[in-house]
Amino acid sequence: MPRTVLITGATGTVSTALIDALKEADADLRALVRDESGADGLSERGAEVFVGDLDDARSLPPAFEGVQDVWLLTPNGPRAPENSMNAVWAARQAGVERVVRLSVVGAAHDAPTRSGRLHALSDRELERSGMRWTILRPHWFMQNLLNEAGDIAATGTFSLNLASARIGMIDVRDIAECAARVLLDDPDRHHGETYTLTGPRSLTFDEVAEHLRLALGRPVTYLPVGDDAKRETLLGYGVPKWIVDMLEEYAQAYASGWGDLTTDTVAGLLGRPARDIADFARDHAKAFTPTRDPSAAPARAGSR
Ligand SMILES: NC(=O)c1ccc[n+]([C@@H]2O[C@H](COP(=O)([O-])OP(=O)(O)OC[C@H]3O[C@@H](n4cnc5c(N)ncnc54)[C@H](OP(=O)(O)O)[C@@H]3O)[C@@H](O)[C@H]2O)c1
Repeated sequence: MPRTVLITGATGTVSTALIDALKEADADLRALVRDESGADGLSERGAEVFVGDLDDARSLPPAFEGVQDVWLLTPNGPRAPENSMNAVWAARQAGVERVVRLSVVGAAHDAPTRSGRLHALSDRELERSGMRWTILRPHWFMQNLLNEAGDIAATGTFSLNLASARIGMIDVRDIAECAARVLLDDPDRHHGETYTLTGPRSLTFDEVAEHLRLALGRPVTYLPVGDDAKRETLLGYGVPKWIVDMLEEYAQAYASGWGDLTTDTVAGLLGRPARDIADFARDHAKAFTPTRDPSAAPARAGSR
């Protein structure tokens, strides 16, 4: 009998890719959304939609009832540990067998970012939940570059406060495929494992620009900027201050070399190499290309 998998964060970057990765699988998919009006695409892709808000514990039990596996993704923000706690509690109460949680690279009580420290709290809680668990700790998403797509399409440049940082960035499609692998394997197989997921190599943003240039066939230049300039830009786009502060902490950590690491875990789980930046650039070239209609330019996401 197929297992029922509840996907949280179902409209977001990673979970959307996970639903794609699971759509041919022998599993009954449920998608947790806050607002049903934006969930048509999820039903079309075979997921049964449940409305619930991770901020509101009382809204969650119906979505968790009868579920064997939970994909737990919490949005960035100060309430992330509360969101995770609400989901873990709902899962326990419903008799869920396994939770696979999206954490972050370097999550630890002494991590240099508030995001890493908050994720560490939720990782610990899940480890002691009594359910089977697996934690995925991905590195910086290549898809974060889509936030720069509008600038790259319009000017051929992008500005980040990441100096000459080297980052073992990963394509979100690989995170999703690793999550799908774990969720489709026997619940005991990955129980108790924490997987740090990275791309195949650590890259500077000059190197990223060069790969975008090759894929787009026109110049792309990375322009390093200072923290204050980036902060002003993000606040100007309406990104919440908490997120801007968090991004600055990451930028400072990465600029000091903290993100210069890779693992071979993706290849170990998937039996093939992790996607390279060249794959990402080729597959997303259209997003970085000017359109004739300026109103159709890619929008800037609110947070990483
Ligand atoms: N970006 C990176 O480089 C990176 C690297 C490693 C780890 N991470 C981690 O990845 C996670 C973010 O993943 P993502 O980029 O896929 O997220 P995302 O695209 O920002 O999407 C967030 C999802 O969470 C949902 N959501 C927000 N508040 C909610 C609530 N109160 N109750 C239920 N659902 C809620 C959103 O739904 P709505 O449609 O209702 O808004 C959306 O589906 C974070 O935990 C972050 O720390 C990010």
